[in-house]
Amino acid sequence: MLTRRSLAALAGATALALSLAVPAAAQDKIVIKFSHVVAPDTPKGKAAAKFEELAEAYTSGAVDVEVYPNSQLYKDKEEMEALQLGAVQMLAPSLAKFGPLGVQDFEVFDLPFIFADYDALRKVTQGDVGKMLLDKLQDKGITGLAYWDNGFKIMSANSPLMVPDDFLGLKMRIQSSKVIEAQMNALGAVPQVMAFSEVYQALQTGVVDGTENPPSNMYTQKMNEVQTHATVSNHGYLGYAVIVNKQFWDGLDPTVREGLEKAMAEATDYANQIAKEENDKALEAMKAAGTTEFHDLTEEERAAWVEALAPVHDEMAERIGAETIAAVKGALGM
Ligand code: LMR
Repeated sequence: MLTRRSLAALAGATALALSLAVPAAAQDKIVIKFSHVVAPDTPKGKAAAKFEELAEAYTSGAVDVEVYPNSQLYKDKEEMEALQLGAVQMLAPSLAKFGPLGVQDFEVFDLPFIFADYDALRKVTQGDVGKMLLDKLQDKGITGLAYWDNGFKIMSANSPLMVPDDFLGLKMRIQSSKVIEAQMNALGAVPQVMAFSEVYQALQTGVVDGTENPPSNMYTQKMNEVQTHATVSNHGYLGYAVIVNKQFWDGLDPTVREGLEKAMAEATDYANQIAKEENDKALEAMKAAGTTEFHDLTEEERAAWVEALAPVHDEMAERIGAETIAAVKGALGM
């Protein structure tokens, strides 16, 4: 029979044997924990997996990227804290989630109807303004590496949402952006900030009546199963900043960092290439599932939404910062 002491000795010997069996290179690997809140089968989920594959290849295995999807490690707010503390090295939060960190400028991306399409948006994210905004993160111990697209948002609830009055009194889940809060208030709805991981259940149990998200998020979280109506309003944009812990990033060997930058550039191209198609496919899949009735805004209805939401731009100018708004509008030729 094995005594407690012999068991302990056996455990020690096994651990030693295992550690000897692992090659030195594997032990020395630089680990990048990449945490995110959406499903693997979304534009962000797929781009994170692409980065993992490329980063490991371009650093000849010196780096091990571990992707944790679906809020497995952290929810929205916690993941930002975890990055600053160095518990994870990389995130790609929505641009609507930087306000609590004290960088409110990113909420410019939440202004209703500011980007006509992906091309307009890229004039900002792929240009000097995009860089200027990422630089604002440095003071927070964060380095911004890239922008990844998701897409344009649709509104959903358990009642039709055709004109602004249809929102009166509806409890709408939002991300932690004051601009989105102002947008819901302008529609007469009652905004409620909630972590992404909690939205499905909140919709299912009636804690909130509705929400907004690009189709890819709505579909992969099965929100369409608990929302009877949705309007393809494309009233706002949802995209991501890929960010790393600055101290970690600055401390990397330059050759390793170069490999990671190359991987990030290619993963970014990939993300931005697949985003629209992924969202189009998700919308079609939800239409086919038949649990939600989808409505496209008529020209008149759209004009009413634009009019109801126009005051949000002025109301939020001070919060976002006049300089940032001017820079974005300049890049858009507005
Ligand atoms: C949300 O909270 O609705 C989104 O930001 C989730 C995401 O990361 O796309």
